[in-house]
Amino acid sequence: MEISVSRKSHFNAAHRLHVANWTDERNKQVFGTCNNPNYHGHNYDLIVTVTGQLDEETGYLIDTKILRDIIKEEVEDRFDHKNLNLDTEEFKSVNPTAENIAVVIWRLIHKRLNKNVTLTVKLYETERNFVEYSGR
Ligand code: NI
Repeated sequence: MEISVSRKSHFNAAHRLHVANWTDERNKQVFGTCNNPNYHGHNYDLIVTVTGQLDEETGYLIDTKILRDIIKEEVEDRFDHKNLNLDTEEFKSVNPTAENIAVVIWRLIHKRLNKNVTLTVKLYETERNFVEYSGR
């Protein structure tokens, strides 16, 4: 049996979906308004879930204070109120789609966790559109 602990987080960021070696026409066709050269913003909601075995001594899977600090340092401090394309190393050459943002966040948090837990990152780009990335 495994148990899951989740924490919600939030950040605002601007981005532009663009593939540099494509024509303007193809970029517009594939990414539509998200290809706007002057960028646009999203209010991202993030749910980070850790799943694994309960520690019987502490009664914890993970101390939520530790999870909170990891999310603050790795995600909020890095991406909140930033232009993802221009201001961050992670998206200098990676297209900042919701999918890629979720994968980058997963890697940043995963390196801070014990390796015996499953990490799930659920990223809402809008209320209705969200992506999920999960692994151990
Ligand atoms: Ni967008």
